[in-house]
Amino acid sequence: MNIVITGANRGIGLEFVRQYLLTGDEVWACHRGDLAGLSAIDSPLLHTIHWDVTQALSAETEAQLPATIDILINNAGIYGHDQQLNKISAETMHNVFDVNCIAPVMVVQSLVQRVCAARGRIANLSSKMGSSTDNSSGGCYAYRAAKAALIICSKSMAIDLQPQGVGVITLHPGWVKTDMTSQSGLIDTQTSVAGMRKVIDNIANYDLGTFVAFDGQQIPF
Ligand SMILES: NC(=O)c1ccc[n+]([C@@H]2O[C@H](COP(=O)([O-])OP(=O)(O)OC[C@H]3O[C@@H](n4cnc5c(N)ncnc54)[C@H](OP(=O)(O)O)[C@@H]3O)[C@@H](O)[C@H]2O)c1
Repeated sequence: MNIVITGANRGIGLEFVRQYLLTGDEVWACHRGDLAGLSAIDSPLLHTIHWDVTQALSAETEAQLPATIDILINNAGIYGHDQQLNKISAETMHNVFDVNCIAPVMVVQSLVQRVCAARGRIANLSSKMGSSTDNSSGGCYAYRAAKAALIICSKSMAIDLQPQGVGVITLHPGWVKTDMTSQSGLIDTQTSVAGMRKVIDNIANYDLGTFVAFDGQQIPF
């Protein structure tokens, strides 16, 4: 299969790259800055693509991506900082929205024809922190709002692309030991990604636009 992953140079994105390569898939690993963990992988099945997802897809980058995409994973994300009510700035709200919600929609808009050509699948990585039902501790204005908005956009994608045979799922990776959590998560990236891959394989078994955790549990939003 042809797999395209954004934000793939570290954390959960890098583990998606490792696992899909292990199963013999061809991977286009997109990174905005340095290669980081991607530089340690030596595989003819790996293509590294320089792409900051807040930037429109350039003609040069477009030409490096595959003509058909079986799985597109919108993984790139940022947490943001100073998100208490008395500290949050409009700039932080904008930046976090740009990366966590607007960019995934633009990525899909740019690549949708290639996913349709394969009757492929799209996975959007949101967070349980975007669930209103789950919000019992407040705060985190930018991150919660952007991930909530992504859940809604992802549901619209699921509805819009169903007639073309494309499955769309919104994922919560769990609380994972990565830079984003300062390695303080409850699970490692291997467990998170192995679980999410199973969910992606079983998209057809979930209701349209469902929000699902790495362990297959549906999350109310
Ligand atoms: N870790 C968790 O517990 C957890 C929980 C819920 C949801 N998530 C979500 O899971 C996804 C991956 O998280 P993670 O824990 O692996 O985070 P991470 O370790 O902080 O990695 C984030 C990745 O996103 C990339 N990125 C950020 N902005 C980008 C941009 N504008 N263009 C392209 N790439 C960009 C980063 O690239 P650079 O190296 O260039 O910064 C990095 O590769 C995120 O969407 C996150 O919100 C994580």
